[in-house]
Amino acid sequence: IVEQGERVFRLSISAGQKEFVPGVVSPTIGINAPYLGPTLEMRRGERVRLHVDNGLDDGATVHWHGFELPAAADGGPHQLIRPGARWSPSFEVRQRASLYWYHSHLHRGTGPQVYAGLAAPIYVRDDEEDALDLPSEYGVDDIPLIVQDRVLDNSGKLLYPQNMHAQMMGVRGDRLYVNGTQNAVFDARTGLLRLRILNGSNARFYDFSLSGGQTMQIIASDGGLLERPRAVRSLRLAPGERAQILVDLSEGRPLSLVATSPDNSMGMMGGDGGGMMGRRRDDTEMDEPFRVLDIRPSDSSPQRKLPSQLAPLPALDPSLAVRTRRFVLDMGMMGGGMSINGASMDMNVISERVPVGQWEIWEIANASMMAHPFHIHNAQFRVIDRNGRTPPPLETGYKDTVIVDPREQVRLLLRFEEHTDPDLPYMYHCHILEHEDAGMMGQFVVV
Ligand code: C2O
Ligand code: CU
Ligand code: CU
Repeated sequence: IVEQGERVFRLSISAGQKEFVPGVVSPTIGINAPYLGPTLEMRRGERVRLHVDNGLDDGATVHWHGFELPAAADGGPHQLIRPGARWSPSFEVRQRASLYWYHSHLHRGTGPQVYAGLAAPIYVRDDEEDALDLPSEYGVDDIPLIVQDRVLDNSGKLLYPQNMHAQMMGVRGDRLYVNGTQNAVFDARTGLLRLRILNGSNARFYDFSLSGGQTMQIIASDGGLLERPRAVRSLRLAPGERAQILVDLSEGRPLSLVATSPDNSMGMMGGDGGGMMGRRRDDTEMDEPFRVLDIRPSDSSPQRKLPSQLAPLPALDPSLAVRTRRFVLDMGMMGGGMSINGASMDMNVISERVPVGQWEIWEIANASMMAHPFHIHNAQFRVIDRNGRTPPPLETGYKDTVIVDPREQVRLLLRFEEHTDPDLPYMYHCHILEHEDAGMMGQFVVV
């Protein structure tokens, strides 16, 4: 059934194959493709309907990460699509223009499904952004970069490590892929290039920078444009987070987007030599810095002028909040107790009932020794502070996923503007997918 004026997308999930190294075929999962899927382009204000067919032998779900929508359309663990079945949610696109994404959210099975390829970008566009003179031609001066690391076994086949170490730290690979391609190269034909970066990795954090130390301009965070461009030399993104940057190519010289991976073990594996397992270089460490994307300018057309103002954002006013909720993230001993507020994810337990339209402060505290990217469904929030300190440039805009470092407390200001459902919950969770699958997730309803 399709209502008048709905834009329809047809997505078909199926098993695929991919050669991660030439000549060696690995089984994968893709959406309308053998691996990953198409970039969906939506417009703010329009109604969309997505027909999602599950052609796998296993159940699957598809979650629209970053969207505010009815709980029944969210695509979380309660919207299971059985093998051979179709799921057809419909919703109004309320989001500001930005880069969002869709990915598996299968209960206790998100990590392996996303790793196998069940993930892809969504572009939302709107009038506010179109009124600015920003690069916006898809594939020409505006490109998505889904950054993912993978492990291959000795024969070159894709491997999802299940050992305790990988599950506790999250699965991290030693090879880097962008949109499914290793050693990616982009031939740029314009003087100003817009990169929409999505950390689509299961667990690895990245510090992105440009070779040669050139600055990049951050123009947008998870939920759209910042107030003004912010020049930075390096940019950290945890799994689930996005950022849009502008790169100046007007000098015509080739350059690379590179990344290092910050240590996210925080001494868990030993540190001073007295630890449980000792400090060792494991097989999932990368040679750093590694190349994410080589950019080859083929023409130094005059650079467009970077707008000095992007989008006026409402003032961040924590005094709007009428209540504070606290969430404590913990891993337990050796990762055996992944929890939020002492409880591990249970499909039958709803932990928070949040009144619609009410401003709240959510205080996220990290009691463990690893950093966790905390994600909330059905919301774009603002970051008030981190241990009382002002957040970095990327966090001056709207976010749906935020890094919480060990011993840190991050305060968020948010409100759920519509879509009540007393029974069907949304999720909040760590976006390290192995932590999510192991239970660092909770459920809330908007009433
Ligand atoms: Cu991107 Cu609940 O997920
Ligand atoms: Cu989400
Ligand atoms: Cu985590």
